[in-house]
Amino acid sequence: MTNDPARAGAAPPLVEITILGRACLARPDMTLVWVLYDQGYIESSSRFCWNGTCLYCTVHVVMPNSRKVVRAKACEIFPAAGLRVVKLGGEFLLAPRLAS
Ligand code: FES
Repeated sequence: MTNDPARAGAAPPLVEITILGRACLARPDMTLVWVLYDQGYIESSSRFCWNGTCLYCTVHVVMPNSRKVVRAKACEIFPAAGLRVVKLGGEFLLAPRLAS
């Protein structure tokens, strides 16, 4: 028996990130594009490739401990505590999120 969550098969602790000013908890072991999907910013019938080739998942983020906004593919970065998503590309759903 082990007390190490990684060795026991447990999910790692959630980290807090911010998406367009809204705080949310995210699994650090899944790419940001899945967090955006879970949060309702991506339609299930979308054209996203999920593997780094389509560029539909382009986001602007501020990495933890940084002030610089950088453009990235959401399917290629992992959430870390303090990550801020400040802009989403045109393929993301925005209207439903703004209404809630
Ligand atoms: S989902 Fe296609 S490049 Fe990220």
